Amino acid sequence: MNTKTTVISQAELDAQFACCDKIAAYWQTKGRTPTAYVETYGCQQNEADSEKLRGFLAQCGYAIVGSAEGADVVIMNTCAIREHAEQRVFGNLGALTHTKRRHPEQKIFLCGCMAGETKVSDRVKHSYPHVDGVFSTHHLWQFPQILWNVLSGKKRQFFIEDEPGSIAEGIPQVRDSKLKAWVSIMYGCNNFCTYCVVPYVRGRERSRRPEDIVAEARELVAAGCKDITLLGQNVNSYGKDLGLGVDFADLIRMINDIPGEFLIRFMTSHPKDATEKLFKTMAECEKCAHQLHLPVQSGNDRVLKAMNRNYTAEKYLAQVKLARSYMPDLVITTDIIVGFPGETDEEFEDTIKLCDEVRYDAMFTFIYSKRVGTPAASMPDAATREDKQRRFDRLLEAANRVSAEKHAEYIGKTVRVLVDGETGKDEYNLSSRTNGGRLVHLAGDKSLIGQFIDVKITSGNTWALYGKVGE
Ligand code: SAH
Ligand code: SF4
Ligand code: F3S
Repeated sequence: MNTKTTVISQAELDAQFACCDKIAAYWQTKGRTPTAYVETYGCQQNEADSEKLRGFLAQCGYAIVGSAEGADVVIMNTCAIREHAEQRVFGNLGALTHTKRRHPEQKIFLCGCMAGETKVSDRVKHSYPHVDGVFSTHHLWQFPQILWNVLSGKKRQFFIEDEPGSIAEGIPQVRDSKLKAWVSIMYGCNNFCTYCVVPYVRGRERSRRPEDIVAEARELVAAGCKDITLLGQNVNSYGKDLGLGVDFADLIRMINDIPGEFLIRFMTSHPKDATEKLFKTMAECEKCAHQLHLPVQSGNDRVLKAMNRNYTAEKYLAQVKLARSYMPDLVITTDIIVGFPGETDEEFEDTIKLCDEVRYDAMFTFIYSKRVGTPAASMPDAATREDKQRRFDRLLEAANRVSAEKHAEYIGKTVRVLVDGETGKDEYNLSSRTNGGRLVHLAGDKSLIGQFIDVKITSGNTWALYGKVGE
């Protein structure tokens, strides 16, 4: 496989912008403002990609709307991580035959991680004739050309060739929020965990240049953004491919140096690559949130090895200890897969044990889902669906118990939060997040939105904290 990262040239991007101009002119002759709807599935990486698709659409003159009904363009930006996610997409894609029947001009596209799977593009080709185009994440930067091809009457568009991966700078973005922003610092993944489809659909790991990332962060801060989340499948290997001598901790420091009041968050950290330098940097950089999403996946060494995670439970626990020694108030969250092929009840007990030891602030738990083409798909699996469900329920119960206990520890304390929106409820009308990312509901005037304020925590349950302003 070719592993060279291609940087999309300005000339190639200009050709895309020229397509935007042609599309805008096309709609001008029709005398109305076209509309577009983008539906996003999956992780923050996809959210960030959808902001770019909306950016292109806005450049083409489209108004962004909140539903597929009547929209001139519908884009499904999909996730392939689990079977269930894919089934939902196919269900919703099927339902679009009706919106298209009611509005025959509607153009429908499927993109994102599912578009990187040949079995998906083949199925769309043969069984979903109402879909006008499919493009994988590697081809997102060519969306204006794809759309123009469809509008100008060319046949259905399939931009799905597997690429080693490229980086396109300068794509316009329409962001969901002014206060909070996702910033992709790298794309793809090299880790090939044996259960995971991401390296196959998103290509090899490639990092954006630090100066491009810092420039984007600077612009965001100047525009009033208060909360920047740096995104990558494994941010700890940021920069390794660039050879510039800038690693992830250095990047945090560079962003921390931007003047202004804002928070830096990031995800995801792979435990095999988290370093003491990173924890020290997090502790020293006053804008860096004391929040670490450190997916462990399992607490059993045999399972971890079969998953190709490259760490042991002992090494993981030592890292948590080290991170907490630098930041005693660190909020730690994790992902766990229950029922990986061959996992026994005893091995699962090790996961429970590890969770009891770490006491996570929040856990995202998943039942293993078989992904065709990954090594784990052909591993023997004796456990039944019921076995797995039983383990899952136990883990969830343990997670909820610890989360409620952790929330109870906040009661009576004063914490700094960023007020980020309204809840729509009468009693606690505002929502906010602590530095560590915990949700706090508040009562107060909506003029507080966008401000960092101190609140006293008055109560809490499994899911959220409740607080009072100004105490
Ligand atoms: N890059 C991140 C995770 C991305 S996917 C990391 O390495 O941690 C988010 C989570 O989905 C993973 O952490 C894992 O817990 C879960 N996941 C991935 N593949 C899965 C599968 N086949 N079945 C069930 N859960 C899966
Ligand atoms: Fe998937 Fe592993 Fe890469 Fe995360 S690190 S995206 S779990 S292969
Ligand atoms: Fe899903 Fe792709 Fe993210 S598979 S979890 S949307 S990287």
